Amino acid sequence: MAAGSPAGGEIRPYHIIVFGASGFTGRFVVEEVARACPAGPGGTLRWAIAGRSRDRLEKVLLQAAQALSKPELRSVEVIVADVAQPESLAIMCKQGVVVLNCVGPYRFYGEPVVKACIENGAHYIDICGEPQFLEGMQLKYHSKAQEKRVYVIGSCGFDSIPADMGILYTRDQFKGTLTAVESFLTVSTGPEGGCGHEATWQSAIFGFADSASLRSLRKKFGHKPLPVVGAPIKKRGALFYSKEIQQYSIPFMGSDPSVVRRTQRCMHQEHQQAPVQYAAYVGIGGVFSVAKTFFAGLMFWLMTKFSIGRSLLIQFPEVFSFGLFSKAGPSKKQACVFFFIMSTFLMVLSSTIRAADSYRRLMLARGFCFMSVYNTLSHFRWKEPLFAFLSLEKAIQMAGIPHRASLMLPSPHR
Ligand SMILES: NC(=O)c1ccc[n+]([C@@H]2O[C@H](COP(=O)([O-])OP(=O)(O)OC[C@H]3O[C@@H](n4cnc5c(N)ncnc54)[C@H](OP(=O)(O)O)[C@@H]3O)[C@@H](O)[C@H]2O)c1
Repeated sequence: MAAGSPAGGEIRPYHIIVFGASGFTGRFVVEEVARACPAGPGGTLRWAIAGRSRDRLEKVLLQAAQALSKPELRSVEVIVADVAQPESLAIMCKQGVVVLNCVGPYRFYGEPVVKACIENGAHYIDICGEPQFLEGMQLKYHSKAQEKRVYVIGSCGFDSIPADMGILYTRDQFKGTLTAVESFLTVSTGPEGGCGHEATWQSAIFGFADSASLRSLRKKFGHKPLPVVGAPIKKRGALFYSKEIQQYSIPFMGSDPSVVRRTQRCMHQEHQQAPVQYAAYVGIGGVFSVAKTFFAGLMFWLMTKFSIGRSLLIQFPEVFSFGLFSKAGPSKKQACVFFFIMSTFLMVLSSTIRAADSYRRLMLARGFCFMSVYNTLSHFRWKEPLFAFLSLEKAIQMAGIPHRASLMLPSPHR
């Protein structure tokens, strides 16, 4: 049975190809795709997994088949493709309507996949949290993606679905105009602790080391500042005590602000909507945690400046991240009890007080997202696109709503 027609209109064997399926995250994605396709690989949603090692990919299918008690998963197709071999990527991309790219760090491995998807008419989705890659791809490939009518959708993970979609969701709940959102992230682990996987740690190391390039990249867009609607968002320091979450907080260093800003710019420029200002913070706890964070942050910052420092950070993630990251990543048990809370505090210009040109600070939406980071990958991230891709028309309709920052909008579908 053939999958729906991709950007070019021809019929392809698979709706979805999970690329990097043998990785830490890829394995979770495989299980989630399998869960969402109750009819199995022969069902209405046709999918395949891809990566550079057939052996490792077959093991992933075996593990998923055992974990989900679905022996039919062993017959899911395997495509061998290596980022270092463009022809193998082209062959992979020609077979799929959508490629879910789980191969990272994206700054090293992402571009050939984006390029191959565009050239071969496959829509592209990733879970990247690296602003430099996301913005760099937009700068370089936006027009090509438009020409080919291909969607390139980045950061569909913890970075930055809760922030980006959360703001849009929140905005839609109000009658007045949402003008500003502050989010405060806090995380909690179970008694067994928890940590992130080393690939995410590496993405952070290289992102810090190369932050100057991000500034010069942004200049190339030549964007004018977005207009400020309502009162300017409160400026907070590099460290402050947050009364909202009752702990010390620092600015959140992930990709959320970048992703949200790009979405808001797109909504403003393409759809004349009032941009929402956004600031992201992370709660770090009490005085002892402040001291620990200061020491760890300083050491991290210094070490990322030198290649020897970077290789030490990469070799010993547990030591230098104080256990926040490890080579093995969290166990399934740890991942299941890990959750994060993203509390959002809003400023709304309501229709009733707009005339008086005054603003009211509302603490209406304290949005709780109880989910494990890796459950996030499945429940929060993939479900929407996955179900949408059951019908390509719906996918295009969905992708045509410019609510994702990294969405490159092909004009024919607008
Ligand atoms: N935004 C979020 O919420 C979120 C969450 C988790 C992860 N991430 C990001 O997702 C990315 C992957 O993370 P991870 O922890 O899953 O990493 P990982 O376990 O190291 O997996 C990397 C995957 O890439 C594959 N790969 C490496 N080089 C390749 C090449 N040349 N050609 C083809 N495949 C290649 C690996 O294949 P082999 O198995 O053959 O080595 C593996 O399947 C990272 O960038 C991470 O930051 C984002």
